[in-house]
Amino acid sequence: MIVTKQPTLRKFWYPVVRFSDLQEAPLPFVLLGQKIVLWKTAEGGIACLQDRCCHRTAKLSLGYLEDDNVVCGYHGWTFAPDGKCVRIPQQPEQAVPQNAKVQAYKAVEKYGYVWVTLDEPLTDIPDFPEAGQPGFRQVHQFYETWDIGALRLMENSFDSAHVAFVHRATFGDVQRPQIVPRELTQKPFGFVSVQSNPVVVRGDLAQKAVHTESKETVRHTNSEWYMPFVRRTSIRYPTGLIHVLITCATPITDDRSMILQWVYRNDTEADVSTEEVIAFDRAITFEDKAILESCEPDVPLSSVDGEELHMLSDRPGLIMRRMLSQLLREHDETEQRLAS
Ligand code: FES
Ligand code: CO
Repeated sequence: MIVTKQPTLRKFWYPVVRFSDLQEAPLPFVLLGQKIVLWKTAEGGIACLQDRCCHRTAKLSLGYLEDDNVVCGYHGWTFAPDGKCVRIPQQPEQAVPQNAKVQAYKAVEKYGYVWVTLDEPLTDIPDFPEAGQPGFRQVHQFYETWDIGALRLMENSFDSAHVAFVHRATFGDVQRPQIVPRELTQKPFGFVSVQSNPVVVRGDLAQKAVHTESKETVRHTNSEWYMPFVRRTSIRYPTGLIHVLITCATPITDDRSMILQWVYRNDTEADVSTEEVIAFDRAITFEDKAILESCEPDVPLSSVDGEELHMLSDRPGLIMRRMLSQLLREHDETEQRLAS
């Protein structure tokens, strides 16, 4: 699948930047190959426009903010949050032409991030029950670009077979490559998966992070995949600790994604500090990053003979491919490949 070429992918919400990054200057981002510019408006709203001035195509993100508007840094044409040009400073006596406008997109704040959709969204932003729930804290873990196709990370998040190998230095064990059965239920938004895995707990940090002094524990996981590139995994440990991982892969281009991850935990800073919670998952995620960046970004939705071979544990990923393929068909689209 080639993310920037499938119009259906524009019909979803994607987290793009941290809300706290919206400051005094217009902020650029590239979503699905589309250059956008974001800023905060006085009423607490978020403006999102195509990052291309309709005069001579300069990036509006190189300009500056004036009240609720963005002023192009090239010749000063000024655009309101709805994309309409409200001023051409060189000709103040003349009315601004009707067609002087740039495309505006919907943008909202949720969970501390700015979410954007480039078209009428097919679904809402996923609802995470732990957000704002008493007893749970939120820890922002990372926000960074990886050189991967977004679907690779989603598949990896539900691929139990990689743990023994990719994570052999952290919580995996190469001596135990066997897969524990997974209960998987398809839903309109994606799927739900339930699984209980024994895992290794290596080192003081890991022991502290999962509240145990033992070198082994069990993770009871309840996970959801939200089409196309969001997953929530709630991990319950025998001690009662709940560690909920939210991982989003927002496609920048076909081979580059913004990876956002945060967690909700039912413990406190006094139990495990924010830095330790970040460091614990960070080490694990770096292991995934190294391998995933070596995989080709393009994921074939429909099997091409011999292109990729599968095993039983690949079922969640294959369901993702099938559901995304179905989604494209429902919107009269066919899968486009990177090479084609
Ligand atoms: Fe923006 Fe000229 S390019 S005002
Ligand atoms: Co992994």
